[in-house]
Amino acid sequence: MTNKLYYGDNLYVLRKYIPDNSVDLIYLDPPFNSQATYNVLFEEESGEKSQSQIEAFEDFWTWDDDAQKTFEYLTTDKNVPANVTDLILALERLLGKNSMSAYLVMMSVRLIELRRVLKPTGSLYLHCDPTASHFLKIVLDSIFGVQNFRNEIIWKRTSGHSDAIGFGCIHDVILFYTRSDKVIWNDTRQEYDKEYVEAYYRYSDPDGRKWMSGDASASGLQGGGYEYEWKGVKRIWRFPIDTMRKLDTEGRIFYTKNGIPRVKRYLDESEGLPAQDLWTDIEALRSWHKNERLGYQTQKPVALLERIIKASSKNDAVILDPFCGCGTTIDAVEKLNLGSEAKRTWIGIDITHLAINLIKRRIRDKYPNANFEVIGEPKDLQSAIQLAHNDRYQFEWWALSLIDARPINDKKKGSDRGIDGIIYLLDPNTKTTKSVLVQVKSGHVNSSYIRDFKGTLEREKAKFGVFITLEEPTKDMKEEALTYGSELAPLNNEERVPRIQILTIKELLEGTKPKVLYVNISYKKARHEKEKKSKRVIGKKVGKYKKLAV
Ligand SMILES: C[S@@+](CC[C@H](N)C(=O)[O-])C[C@H]1O[C@@H](n2cnc3c(N)ncnc32)[C@H](O)[C@@H]1O
Repeated sequence: MTNKLYYGDNLYVLRKYIPDNSVDLIYLDPPFNSQATYNVLFEEESGEKSQSQIEAFEDFWTWDDDAQKTFEYLTTDKNVPANVTDLILALERLLGKNSMSAYLVMMSVRLIELRRVLKPTGSLYLHCDPTASHFLKIVLDSIFGVQNFRNEIIWKRTSGHSDAIGFGCIHDVILFYTRSDKVIWNDTRQEYDKEYVEAYYRYSDPDGRKWMSGDASASGLQGGGYEYEWKGVKRIWRFPIDTMRKLDTEGRIFYTKNGIPRVKRYLDESEGLPAQDLWTDIEALRSWHKNERLGYQTQKPVALLERIIKASSKNDAVILDPFCGCGTTIDAVEKLNLGSEAKRTWIGIDITHLAINLIKRRIRDKYPNANFEVIGEPKDLQSAIQLAHNDRYQFEWWALSLIDARPINDKKKGSDRGIDGIIYLLDPNTKTTKSVLVQVKSGHVNSSYIRDFKGTLEREKAKFGVFITLEEPTKDMKEEALTYGSELAPLNNEERVPRIQILTIKELLEGTKPKVLYVNISYKKARHEKEKKSKRVIGKKVGKYKKLAV
């Protein structure tokens, strides 16, 4: 199976494309009903936040026609399990038709589909927060069965936060369900926290290796031990006398004040603690995580997804993220596959092209050898016309992505300055940035549009502009554009770059790019992920020390 990135509403994509029992693991991080909007903050190559940010998605829910239709489906359709229908009716009686119930019907209908696509051995992790986690848990109970609830994982995502009244809320909730009781589960360990290490690994060798004192006798050990006398102490020991001798020679046995031999258990050889449901060891992304942050406000750390994927999937698993944002799950799958035998495949879905664009760049920059197919984006003129007809902004963002330009308008702001996007160029000689302004038109165009665009460029003191049009430009438009002049490209003195370039969607779909004077730095590049040669793996050979089974 090839990796697939779908642009579209996940309900539609799940129903149309994803077969029953075909996915091993699902992680979803949907909107939380937080009554907030979330932005894409464009960052500069240096990692600094730039002025530009645009709204990626809204997390406001209202009981509208869509919610009503979904409610009717959930309460009347015979394919919806009866207990789910009962729960939805009860929730509607309890809450009324409001923002929370609208959110819950939106989630319920998708969770039904997600259970359908999950294999009988599969697992689902739903990331949410205390706003709705209590309701989502009963929705999941009704869809997956109470007996298939595994954990409510508490992820401490920040260390401090102050709320006006009450205690600062610093955690998210991850609800873990399985489809049955025969599931994929891999022993998962976490490193001991500092307090544990300080309390238990109290001793150290002269070279600084920390150890705790372990029982050398077989007391409490199932299956007996070996009885003999060792340095005047007769006991039933946990290993035969030859091993005792070897350990003693290697300095792995120490003696208490009373001369009782005990075994040193080294921290660097420990398997770690079986992972618990309170996760305090994975830091949320902060301003200093410059290499990982992509400016998507709800971006989660890759380490969080690595833990989930490692715990609940095999090397050949199919992993689905139906609300994939800037692609953290996808990144984690690729990272785990890199240089290993793992051949996990992924399916990502997102409803905004802002996210799809970021994911494509993230994966191509970090994993140049990764293969994936993008489904749902316009591939020809006809589908581009359809997108422009359905959603002007999504069309605009998609068109801008074809020339690596940053969008600057969102549905709230609209286009007030006659500019839809910007390309930032870096002049390598002066180390200064120059901008190219972009306008996107999906309707009828004529030469007055180019005259206006010229006016905009002059007003904004911009030397260069790109005019993207769905309709073919007229002869007049081309002539009008030429009147704005051209400039010699410093990197190639032969070539003149027109100061206004008109490009059609058809040309862009064929791969034409605008001519630019310098290097396009509009998007921060995610750093190429290299295969790691030696990783610290808890419980395996570490550094110069070899694990000894005692
Ligand atoms: C909280 S963000 C996910 C962040 C992601 N975990 C990451 O690390 O980047 C939720 C995402 O769900 C997307 N979304 C919201 N409704 C959707 C729907 N019906 N279908 C697909 N995606 C949707 C939003 O566009 C947004 O990118």
